[in-house]
Amino acid sequence: MTIRSTNPGRTPSPVGVHREPFGTTADGRAVERFTLTSASGVTIAVLSYGGVIQSILAPDRAGALADVTLGYDTLPEYEKDKSYLGALVGRYANRIRAGRFSLDGRDYTLAQNAGGNHLHGGMRGFNKAVWSVEPFEEHGESGLALEHVSPDGDEGYPGTLRSRVTYRLTAGGELVIDFSATTDAATPANLTQHAYFNLAGSGSGDILGHVLELSASRFTPVDATLIPTGELRSVHGTPFDFSTPESVGARIGADDEQLRLAGGYDHNFVIDRPAAAALTLAARLTDPVSGRGVDIHTTEPGIQFYTGNFLDGTVMGKGGVPHRYRSGLALETQHFPNSPNEPAFPSAILRPGAEHRSRTVYHFVVRE
Ligand code: BGC
Repeated sequence: MTIRSTNPGRTPSPVGVHREPFGTTADGRAVERFTLTSASGVTIAVLSYGGVIQSILAPDRAGALADVTLGYDTLPEYEKDKSYLGALVGRYANRIRAGRFSLDGRDYTLAQNAGGNHLHGGMRGFNKAVWSVEPFEEHGESGLALEHVSPDGDEGYPGTLRSRVTYRLTAGGELVIDFSATTDAATPANLTQHAYFNLAGSGSGDILGHVLELSASRFTPVDATLIPTGELRSVHGTPFDFSTPESVGARIGADDEQLRLAGGYDHNFVIDRPAAAALTLAARLTDPVSGRGVDIHTTEPGIQFYTGNFLDGTVMGKGGVPHRYRSGLALETQHFPNSPNEPAFPSAILRPGAEHRSRTVYHFVVRE
């Protein structure tokens, strides 16, 4: 497939950051919305609440814009959200078995908020924090620097964790997300962005016709509670082989134990990388009808491919359209789930004096 600019023959939109109030949380914290515009035609709105990416406007082959991410119109809906729509996730993306781990000879117990396991940082993870946000504009690009301090003992985690995330929208339609964190005591740290994509447009239907390619020859199979068994299994000859482009729906209903356990795809894929921490193309997603695509590069070792199996149409989204079953999919760059309990997985432990750093890039493109 050929890739061309996301802004064919159009006058560049003004580049910059627009800032406006977005309401007050139930406990009285003021929230703002920041809209980033770029010469590519891609426009992204971000909330200080949860660092949420609320909308992503991206052009199709004819230049028509659609909002390609799931979300809500109002703050109270984000405060109620249980699907992490568009949010920053921390301290630990995905699951930790039974919310327990040992570190340097001490046992820790975390909030158990998902069938007895710990999920996405607990009851009030970083998705429920109001981040402090500084907008910036430089070299024709606009961006935001977000900061959040998680106190010692937050959701059971040791140490004060200071996190900084920047969103930078380039003239070429790339959203560059840089994560960094420091701590004053050893702690697991695994930050991610939890956008759900529907490249045909949020609210327009399911994502089963999207075409996906993953740079992953192995994945981490799970048990019935979605905790990895510890095995790194080859995708070869299974419905998990996306090493060549394949539609999301082609094999999702196959008679396969892993698909049955997770109710579809909800698995961590092991990214094939030339070197540890190299910025690597992990995923290519395309809506063949509109031509909208997103390429995801990351320095992380894994990517969680989740097909919105728990969305059930009971919660309204933007424009009053319910978030129906499989109406969006997430591709969350991360360290592997449950790594604090799996010594053979890449370590997600951050120690005082060290800095956690990772980069993920969503490149919005149009494919012929
Ligand atoms: C998890 C799913 C979960 C979803 C929303 C994904 O990262 O793997 O199991 O339902 O996030 O919380």
